[in-house]
Amino acid sequence: MQAFIRTRNVRKTYRSGTVEVNALNGVTADIKKGEFVAIMGPSGSGKSTLLHVIGTLDQPTSGTITIKGVDVLKLSDDGKTSFRLKEMGFVFQFYSLLPELTAAENVFVPQMLIGKSGGEMTANCTEILTSLGLRERMHNYPLQLSGGEQQRIAIARALVNKPELLLADEPTASLDSKSAQNVLHAFKELNETLGQTIVMVTHDEHLGRMADRGIWLRDGMIEKEKTF
Ligand SMILES: Nc1ncnc2c1ncn2[C@@H]1O[C@H](COP(=O)(O)OP(=O)(O)O)[C@@H](O)[C@H]1O
Ligand SMILES: [Mg+2]
Repeated sequence: MQAFIRTRNVRKTYRSGTVEVNALNGVTADIKKGEFVAIMGPSGSGKSTLLHVIGTLDQPTSGTITIKGVDVLKLSDDGKTSFRLKEMGFVFQFYSLLPELTAAENVFVPQMLIGKSGGEMTANCTEILTSLGLRERMHNYPLQLSGGEQQRIAIARALVNKPELLLADEPTASLDSKSAQNVLHAFKELNETLGQTIVMVTHDEHLGRMADRGIWLRDGMIEKEKTF
């Protein structure tokens, strides 16, 4: 069976002035549909860069990446944007919620971008916020919510269009350990009930071990892999 995500010899060199940094040094990996993978490794090992190139947010210097059989590096900028909107949800370390919008309105945004009707948006929003235990919080603004609640809204926003792939970069880094566990449980449930493919970057091995498989990076290369 073809891998859901397939990377071959992916390299990324950042240049600033005369300084070159090889953030990725030939990463070859396969991720199966429905798999929950944790990318681990020390700070600076290339974890975020790998997530960003898989998410088509950053172009690698060389190598190939296919997702669902699509050679994503060959897509035009518009093609990448619509591929992301349809197929992927992103959760970052800082929730990046829009502070002037309520929880529900934040979850409307990605739906508006793909042209959902008002009725559909409200129904989807209520459904996902309820499933993440946020029904009572729908009409609050981000600043009225705890860090864990804000992160769950960011997850709801990432998932509301039902993307097949969830990409998360240190999604629990700014949370206390209880909220971090809750976020991980939410991921686990999505993975187990909806068969969502999840790629999560974390430097926390304890959390990483809740995934199906760990991939450790060091100096932009895969150092080891382990099925949990
Ligand atoms: N935009 C950038 N410009 C220059 N160097 C960068 C940039 N982004 C990341 N790097 C460098 O690439 C390396 C890998 O970074 P990153 O992928 O963020 O690592 P990690 O997420 O594992 O901490 C680091 O040395 C970092 O300083
Ligand atoms: Mg990082």
